[in-house]
Amino acid sequence: EQPRVGLIGLGTMGAALSLNIAEKGHALAVYNRTGSVTDAFVKNAGDLAPRLTPTDSLENFVAAIAAPRVIILMVPAGSVVDDHIDALKPLLGADDLIIDAGNANFYDTERRAERARNEKFGFIGIGVSGGESGARHGPSIMVGGTEADWQRVAPMLEAISAKYEGTPCASLMGPGGAGHFVKMVHNGIEYADMQMIAEVYSLMRDGMGYKAPQVADVFEGWNKGRLESYLIEISAKVSRADDPISGNAMLDVILDKAGQKGTGRWTAIEAQQLAVPVPVIEAAVAARNLSARLEMRQRGAEHFGDAQKALEGEGIAATTLENALIAGKILCYAQGFEMLAAAAAHFKWDLPMPAIARVWREGCIIRSDMLNDMATALTNNPGDNLIFAEPFSGLLKECEADLRDTVIAATRAGIAVPALAAGLSWFDTVRTRRTSANMIQAQRDYFGAHGFERVDGKDEPHGPWAGHED
Ligand code: 6PG
Repeated sequence: EQPRVGLIGLGTMGAALSLNIAEKGHALAVYNRTGSVTDAFVKNAGDLAPRLTPTDSLENFVAAIAAPRVIILMVPAGSVVDDHIDALKPLLGADDLIIDAGNANFYDTERRAERARNEKFGFIGIGVSGGESGARHGPSIMVGGTEADWQRVAPMLEAISAKYEGTPCASLMGPGGAGHFVKMVHNGIEYADMQMIAEVYSLMRDGMGYKAPQVADVFEGWNKGRLESYLIEISAKVSRADDPISGNAMLDVILDKAGQKGTGRWTAIEAQQLAVPVPVIEAAVAARNLSARLEMRQRGAEHFGDAQKALEGEGIAATTLENALIAGKILCYAQGFEMLAAAAAHFKWDLPMPAIARVWREGCIIRSDMLNDMATALTNNPGDNLIFAEPFSGLLKECEADLRDTVIAATRAGIAVPALAAGLSWFDTVRTRRTSANMIQAQRDYFGAHGFERVDGKDEPHGPWAGHED
């Protein structure tokens, strides 16, 4: 059977996705710049090898696929994608379709989709989440493209995607860059979820003196409750593991310097562009940046004394931390969905909010049970912020005190909890009738005559300082 689909880029994700596609019954042409990688991949594909056609040049790759072709790019995001599109262009026929499945910046996807409109071939950008095992056994897929192109590839993408109680975690999010935008926000939330888990871990390790296996016990317990999620599950697993080299807890030998490829940072940047406050995500990005400043942290600890102390008194109960994390998580998602709503309005995308929550229920890194309730809440309360929708409204009321106690206890002990604290400040602000922004307005008017609105509605936009000399 001649393949109708081809995949370029047999790195970790591309190889896993290829096997997934082949396993779902599709014959597939594959190509990698380094030919030996292609050969080794097909050689190791076992039962699936007969469905794979290895090719050694782009020309042979395109020729191996029956038209109209679907060509999946799984190459590093950035100029490599453009290089491949340029190289493929003269080889493609009418109605061929390129799918960029990498972690592209959505502006690049918008530009590429726009360009493809003037070409004979189509282009769609898909956000694929779930790491290597997701790509192999069922990722969550966020699609950006035209309805017609989506219809064309939906059967294949739905087949390879994760399923939540039988429902495929693959959906059309909107045109052009919409899929990659949703994936970007997913990653921002991923950073925030991870950071908040790291913060409660710090409270257990530094505030309570828990050893890694005790931390693992706590996370395992939480994974049976409201916090059930992939990230809590793997946090338990990494806390449980020992280092084969030293025999110590694995976590204790890992340097506290977090890496990042940039998608979380993009979320913070885009949120600022859209003027949407996503302080939990911003705090998580800043925390990764700060973690990298090892030297400064060592110097700071020496100069001012190590900030961290044991928590006062009895310390903090694991159930308090659990509730703090539940509240933090709700606040973070409330901000993330608000950002998606703002983007939908700004870019004129009809982003399907409940469908976004639905495709995140399985397959992706932030998958969790809570997302099922979020999908329902977003369906029942269209256009409203999640914090006002049940069960989240009730949960926030229930967990707020524990979030506050956690932030207070951490602050007193010098244990930094930037994401949890940012969530709490946001929550405090969104239910404050009168904030301090009147001071900002007065200052702006004083130094720049920028004017203000008055609480009594009177038409006098300046203060008595107008015309001041200093
Ligand atoms: C996913 C992940 C993935 C991400 C990496 C690393 O959804 O599968 O978000 O796409 O790129 O996990 O991201 P950082 O290097 O930025 O932490």
